[in-house]
Amino acid sequence: LNNGLALTPPMGWSTWNVFHCDYTEEDIMEMADMLVASGMLSAGYKYLNIDDCWEASYRDPVSGMLKYNETRFPHGMLALSDYIHSKGLLFGIYSSSGERTCQNYPGSWQHEFLDAALFSSWNVDFLKLDCCYQDNIKDRATAFISWSKALLIQNRSIVYSCDSDELILNENNLEFPFQWAPEYCNMARISWDIYDEWKSTLSIIDRAANIYYASQPGYWNDLDILTVGLGKQTIEEYTSQFSLWAIMSSPLIAGNDLRIMTKEIANILTNKEVIAINQDKLGRSGNMIRRALDGSYEVWAKPIYYENISQVYDINNISRFNPLPFHGVVLLNRLNITANITLEFNDLFDHHLSPHPPTPIWTVSIRDLWLHQDLGEFVENWKAINVPAHGVRM
Ligand code: GLA
Repeated sequence: LNNGLALTPPMGWSTWNVFHCDYTEEDIMEMADMLVASGMLSAGYKYLNIDDCWEASYRDPVSGMLKYNETRFPHGMLALSDYIHSKGLLFGIYSSSGERTCQNYPGSWQHEFLDAALFSSWNVDFLKLDCCYQDNIKDRATAFISWSKALLIQNRSIVYSCDSDELILNENNLEFPFQWAPEYCNMARISWDIYDEWKSTLSIIDRAANIYYASQPGYWNDLDILTVGLGKQTIEEYTSQFSLWAIMSSPLIAGNDLRIMTKEIANILTNKEVIAINQDKLGRSGNMIRRALDGSYEVWAKPIYYENISQVYDINNISRFNPLPFHGVVLLNRLNITANITLEFNDLFDHHLSPHPPTPIWTVSIRDLWLHQDLGEFVENWKAINVPAHGVRM
């Protein structure tokens, strides 16, 4: 969506994974405090997004306006928004394109402009639009497009995050989110709901692998709220998820309980070097560039701009003989046991992310973004030894 926003993937924190429907304004204020105190805000996580269940059960019968739950938000949404902004954060909210939200609160169907104006009056900076209670996929397209227009005419910069499920019917074409959403949304979910298990991470990256090209400044495939730190996976699995979301240029929306975040989890979510790959200003998404025949490992790569080279490298003149020289690379071990994985440098230039090089011999400098160490210069390939089960080298 060409609204000047989300030029790099949005970063923030969402209530959904931790609270589901069980939260009050106190909880949100506490999380706002924690976003600042934990270093998450300085690492880039600036949106605090309230997901489903903030709504009262019904619209106001007279005005037709959406209402917040007054028991759980006794001071109201504007006061909460002010608090969030006073912390240097931005405020995100949620609605559904259908008659009701996924948790059966009032949705926005045929109230798009009214609700957009209401959210704007609450100084909202981010809207996640879901699509529950709307099985008619033509209506769904109408609603998602109306919302895009409704947000654009507000006197505010509002990131538009779309969660339209599989298909919508857009001007007589059945389209997946990655096909229709880049024009109307700043980000769009491309998969089913994430849950805190390793196989959920794998199923989402498998889904995202070949639709990477849709992502660009202003629109990003959304791999869903991170499960890093929810507690049911290993540190290696969480490290892998974060590395892959970064390489795929997914929005980085954390979903863990910041009040009990361990140092290990904070080190994952606030790794500046990994975040820099995600936020790289070239604005491309990475993709899988090699998968072992037996499925045991994968190599994922993302071309990056890298500030230091901009003086000598003309980014607007990428050609067959002028390939992109910098890449974020993830070597992923899908096995349940430790494994060695070799990165062939030719793979980095011999795929659709970059044009083919003029010569097949490469000397490559490698830096490990989790160890924060330069590993040295290597010719033709580099072998990662003892990559842990479900782990990565990046
Ligand atoms: C859907 C979305 C989730 C969450 C819930 C809230 O399932 O995909 O991310 O927003 O609705 O009800």
